[in-house]
Amino acid sequence: MTIVAIANQKGGVGKTTTAVNLAAALAERGVRVLLVDVDAQGNAASALGAPRGVRPNIFDALLGGVALEDCILATGTERLDLVPSSLDLAGAELDLAALPEREQRLAAALGGVRGRYEIILIDCGPSLGLITLNALTAADQVLIPVQCEYLALEGLAALIDTIARVRRQLNPSLCMLGVVATMYDGRTRLARDVADELRRHINTLFETIIPRSVRLGEAPSHQMAVLQYAPNSRAAEAYRELAEEVLARLNSGLAAAPQASA
Ligand SMILES: Nc1ncnc2c1ncn2[C@@H]1O[C@H](COP(=O)(O)OP(=O)(O)O)[C@@H](O)[C@H]1O
Ligand SMILES: [Mg+2]
Repeated sequence: MTIVAIANQKGGVGKTTTAVNLAAALAERGVRVLLVDVDAQGNAASALGAPRGVRPNIFDALLGGVALEDCILATGTERLDLVPSSLDLAGAELDLAALPEREQRLAAALGGVRGRYEIILIDCGPSLGLITLNALTAADQVLIPVQCEYLALEGLAALIDTIARVRRQLNPSLCMLGVVATMYDGRTRLARDVADELRRHINTLFETIIPRSVRLGEAPSHQMAVLQYAPNSRAAEAYRELAEEVLARLNSGLAAAPQASA
């Protein structure tokens, strides 16, 4: 079992879209996947049809003494299950801070589902706070989406620093799975320049680039991953390719050696 945290403290870079569609692409490929939504906004879970406010949820598992396996919901996709988030998570950092082993709560909770899934994806919120630290402490690998926009690399240094700190203090085996460029619009000069810049600066950049696609924005309102909503779209194809690359990296053990940089 491999746990992958999808993280970037910048909002709107494609974390949730990548979590949902990579999860669906891996499941389509035959992998048993659990998607854990730890963003208070709960967009990953609702994109796959989880009702808002459903209980028990990740908040109950982290702070309410509920077993995480009791929070699992099936999705419309075979082999893909999810753990929904909760708005209560927004205020949970303070409650968590007062608890013993406060960075290890998610790792401990996920211990209960070990063996049931081959890959667990954690969709992080836009912060480097305690919930994201829990995700990085529970994870074996980090996947970082960056948007092909002006200042794409802004904030990446802070994230890399946080990952290095987690590795020193909490989770020595945490690895960088890679950086994936999202919302690429090949018609614009800016997007092409940003993609070139990413290729120059990021060793772990995935070859797959996720195109800007209106289908990706539409799919969540139909409670479907784009792989079901528009199975033949370029966006669906891109997430299938990303899934292949992710599996190849996990299998090659390339990602196994802890790397300090992106
Ligand atoms: N490749 C893409 N093409 C078009 N829209 C996208 C794409 N990826 C994400 N979006 C849209 O951009 C917004 C932010 O994406 P999201 O995945 O929620 O980012 P994050 O989780 O990092 O905040 C959402 O409205 C989403 O539908
Ligand atoms: Mg999100």
